[in-house]
Amino acid sequence: VAAQRERFIASVHDAATVPTEPRRTSRAPRPSQGPGFRNLPDTDPAVADNRRWAAALLATAPSEPLAAPATSIAEVDAAVARAASVAQSWGATPPARRAEILRQASAALDAARGDLVRAMAHEAGKTVGEADPEVSEAADFAAYYADRAAELADGTDPLARFRPDGVTLVTPPWNFPVAIPIGGALAALAAGSPAILKPAPQTPRCASVAVDAVRSALAVSGVDPDVLQLLQVAEDEVGRHLVTHADIARVVLTGSIETARLFAGWRPDRDVLAETSGKNALVVTPSADLDLAVADAVRSAFGHAGQKCSAASLLILVGSAGRSPRLRRQLADAVSSLAVGAATALGTTMGPLVEPAQGKLLRALTTLDPGEQWLVEPRRLDQDGRRWTPGVKHGVSPGSFFHVTECFGPVLGVMRVGTLDEAIAVQNATAFGLTGGLHSLDPDEIEHWLEHVEVGNAYVNRHITGAVVQRQSFGGWKASVVGPGAKAGGPGYVAQLGTWADAPDLP
Ligand code: SER
Repeated sequence: VAAQRERFIASVHDAATVPTEPRRTSRAPRPSQGPGFRNLPDTDPAVADNRRWAAALLATAPSEPLAAPATSIAEVDAAVARAASVAQSWGATPPARRAEILRQASAALDAARGDLVRAMAHEAGKTVGEADPEVSEAADFAAYYADRAAELADGTDPLARFRPDGVTLVTPPWNFPVAIPIGGALAALAAGSPAILKPAPQTPRCASVAVDAVRSALAVSGVDPDVLQLLQVAEDEVGRHLVTHADIARVVLTGSIETARLFAGWRPDRDVLAETSGKNALVVTPSADLDLAVADAVRSAFGHAGQKCSAASLLILVGSAGRSPRLRRQLADAVSSLAVGAATALGTTMGPLVEPAQGKLLRALTTLDPGEQWLVEPRRLDQDGRRWTPGVKHGVSPGSFFHVTECFGPVLGVMRVGTLDEAIAVQNATAFGLTGGLHSLDPDEIEHWLEHVEVGNAYVNRHITGAVVQRQSFGGWKASVVGPGAKAGGPGYVAQLGTWADAPDLP
């Protein structure tokens, strides 16, 4: 494997010419599940030109200028006032026209793929394999929400009158620094509301490159640029002023449960929509294809170094699956062979943490609770604690720290149970309900699990991260969601960002 990897990297770097055309795919687009909409294909790394393209773009640092953060309450007030001043005209733009503009934004995001991948690699530690699909997802959000905008009535039908919320604040996390901000902001635009995007402090450049792409599409259509503003503010009293601003009609948050509670406390009028944390498990029964289960567990647990709300943090092995030496060996080998390094190196399969491990994550990476043992012990590779090799602990007990605590990093806990019902009980025994998976080839087990698992996104015989717009709309259950809870990339998401007129009294 190591030799193959060396040859792969060498083949990339020895390339005499570097393609300037951004990408070619060899894979056909995913089949559409609805009229008109097709998910964009990701860049296929099996195509040599694509590898050369990726290597060339990662070799240079991003150079796009970055606006200075807003540091005063007056700057925040001015941005909100600009957004409010265009709310009427944007809300009155016919939905079909808004849809057209969003489709152009989708194309602009796809055209900015290289710049977005580069920004994500440099700023968020995302490998190309993680960053490239995120660009597809952002462009898919734009195109999918365009279709949802087109479905909103044009105001002539009194039974279907829709009034957009008004100025919408989108506060995304750093772990999906392009798809989540763009998804939130373009859903607001689709509904007819201006959006203010406050990027995560760790990833302002990713948001800036994405917003520039969307604004280029707005400019072509003659739309006032204040319809979408990027406003970087510190998470201090200026940030609080923005979140609590009287002229912000709606807040769309993706972040930790603690932040969601804070925002909901600040805005008790219940206009906060939040997707929060998860403690996600993948269950494997003895009937499963164990090779596939191991591959999906590793991908789900260690993609973007486990820094996803959707990541698998627990692997629950049922019955003889938990006693299989082969499964254990395969898991240990697969995890140990992940190539840990800089996200800007093409051969890396697990990049660094965005922030040094601390608190719960540091405890998870360095401490074993009673009954636990390392199957693969994580090692810290640098001084400041951003680079770790991945870890797997087994013997995690029900009710223990690791069973119920979201740790958000490259560590997977293995639990063993006797029956599928016990697995479901363990899986459901956390406050959260975001993603979950089952590997089983028994239709009765699958049906039983789907009926009883308490998660927003339930996956069968698949990895549990990387929801695909329209096919797997994304959202949580239980403590993983605040607000009405229509899922991102799904049918009701845009329609929940406004109010529907009551049916008029009929004579
Ligand atoms: N949508 C992402 C995923 O499915 C998480 O935000 O992994």
